[in-house]
Parts: sequence; structure tokens; C-alpha cells
Amino acid sequence: MKILFYMPNAEAAVWLHDFARALPEADLREWQPGDTAPADFAVVWRPPREMLAGRSDLRAIFNLGAGVDAILALEREQPGTLPRNAQLIRLEDTGMAPQMAEYVTHAVLRYLRRFDEYQTLQSERRWQVLDPHPRETFTVGVLGLGVLGAHVAQTLAAFGLPVRGYSRSARQVEGIVTFAGEAQFDAFLDGVKVLVNLLPHTPDTADVLNARAFSKLARGAYLVNVARGGHLVEGDLLDAFASGQLAAATLDVFREEPLPQDHPFWQEPRITITPHTSALTLREESVAQVAAKIVALKRGGTVSGVVNVERGY
Ligand code: NAP
Ligand code: GLV
Repeated sequence: MKILFYMPNAEAAVWLHDFARALPEADLREWQPGDTAPADFAVVWRPPREMLAGRSDLRAIFNLGAGVDAILALEREQPGTLPRNAQLIRLEDTGMAPQMAEYVTHAVLRYLRRFDEYQTLQSERRWQVLDPHPRETFTVGVLGLGVLGAHVAQTLAAFGLPVRGYSRSARQVEGIVTFAGEAQFDAFLDGVKVLVNLLPHTPDTADVLNARAFSKLARGAYLVNVARGGHLVEGDLLDAFASGQLAAATLDVFREEPLPQDHPFWQEPRITITPHTSALTLREESVAQVAAKIVALKRGGTVSGVVNVERGY
């Protein structure tokens, strides 16, 4: 069994080492430009087009992340890049769900309990009690009820907050009021106080965080974007701050990463910026999940996490 590996950073060696331990019988190699020798599986993060194009031997491509937007963009830009017979398989949770829940919960509770305002008061040495936000109207709306979104929504519901979730197909998640499909989008947004984005980035979801969506939220709402920068119309966010429709945003992802030095978001005190770190790919969990799926496929079995390329996630 031959496995090709690609990761565009210096950590490739340690990943290869761990895969070799998990799959001792495998013939593993790091892909180098010009390598067209046979392979059964590819394990990749943000691979170059030439690694995959024209390969009819691959049975499956494992994406070392939950989001497959980058790899599917290669196919969209140049159809035929992804080998037609190879399944594209993404990471499922692998420790990302608890990280996401921590990150989003921190942001939501910080807004609920008005920590930013208390910090400002502290800087002015002012001892002042602010009116609490009424919990019953501090509705959190989670876009995306998949592996990560459903876990985040349920974590927030445990704090007694009203939580809504939105997905493409109808979902039932205990403790969450759910909405599905475009026809229910406005009802989902209506009066939401904190909008959390955990959608995959697809042609259908690009730019979904825009002026129209913001206008449906409660006045002075908050945004937490932990999915992809391409979901957010950046100018609409700044306009929504200027009008008072949005009060603050926590952003982990950006259209251009790293966020350029001269980007206006750096100067905006209402935006909290983190460098795409809300849920990191954990090596141990990821190697174990991918290795187990390779073994299952090798034995002729089926696995979960297979991406529907047409749908985009
Ligand atoms: P997932 O399990 O595939 O869930 C995707 C959810 O989005 C599903 O509920 C799906 O609806 C819904 N959805 C997709 N297209 C939709 C549409 N057009 N309208 C309404 N709902 C739609 O994905 P996941 O594992 O939770 O990951 C979600 C995303 O998080 C990833 O794609 C990635 O971009 C992002 N992410 C970010 C980080 C980070 O560090 N910032 C880390 C990991 C992941 P159905 O339930 O009907 O299918
Ligand atoms: C990270 O952003 C991922 O998609 O796993």
C-alpha cells in the first residue's frame, strides 16, 4: 500500500513519522514536485494542483482539515484536477469540536457578561455596574449544524441561553431550535443576538455574512466567524458597526491569511482577531482517524466523512 503525503510546512516529517507508526506496513513518502510514481492513497493539506492532477491510481484523498474548500477550489478552477475515482475524505472532529466549543463559548460569554465594557471602565478606574443583558433574549444563532456546529450549539444551550441552528437539510438537535434551507433563513436570523458561523465555504455559502443578514439580527448584535473568511463581506461588517447594527465581532478567519498589515480590521477596536486558531488540526487524533479509515478502505469497507464534491462539503 503506497501513501503519498503533502503538507506545506515544516511539520511534514513528524506527521510522516506518526503515520509510519500507525501504518507500519505502508510505503509512505512525502510528495515532491515531479513525483508521478504509483500511489493508492494521498494524505494532504492544501496540496499543489500538480500533485493530484492526472492521477488515476488514487483510491482516496484524505484532507487534513474539516474544510475542503481549498482542495475543491483547485477542481473548480481547473475541472479534472481531482482524480475522478478517488474519494475525498475530510477530518471529522478529531478534537476540533471541543476546541471550537471553548472558543465560541468564550466569545459569547464575554459579550453576554459585558467584559469588554468592564475592561474599558477599568482603564478609566470607574467602579460601575452595567445592566446585564437579559438571558432570555440573548439568542445565539449557529450557522451550520454539522460535526462542529451541533457541538457548539449544544455547549451554549447548556448555559441556558436560547440557541438556534441552521442547516441545509432539516436536523434535530436536542435543546436547539432548528431551521433549514433558504426558505427558513430569515426566520433563523430574526432577532439573533450572537451570530456564530460554522458553515463550510461553498458557492452557496460564500458572502453569507452580509448587510442583508446583519439587518435581520437584533440591534447591537455580535458576530463570531470561525468558518472561513470568504463567508464575510468585510465592508458590510464595518458599515454595520458604523450604523450600530452590530456591536462587536470575533474573527478567526479572513479572506486573506495572514491578515495583511494594512487591513482596516487591525485598527477596529470592536473586532477581536485570532490567527485561524479556533480549532487546530491535532496530529495524534488526525493520524489515528485517517489510518483507521485507510485500513477500512483497504479491507473493502466504507468510511464516513466522504465529501460530496458537487455539494462542496
Ligand atoms: P460539516 O459537518 O460538514 O457541517 C456543515 C454544516 O453546514 C451542516 O449542518 C450543513 O447542512 C450546513 N450547510 C452546508 N451548506 C449549507 C447551506 N448552503 N445552507 C445551510 N446550511 C449548510 O462541517 P464541520 O466539520 O462542522 O465544519 C464546518 C466548517 O468549519 C468547515 O467547513 C471549516 O470551514 C470550518 N472550520 C474552521 C476551523 C478553524 O480553525 N477556524 C477549524 C475546523 C473547521 P446539512 O446538515 O444539511 O448537511
Ligand atoms: C481548518 O480550518 C479546518 O478546516 O480544519
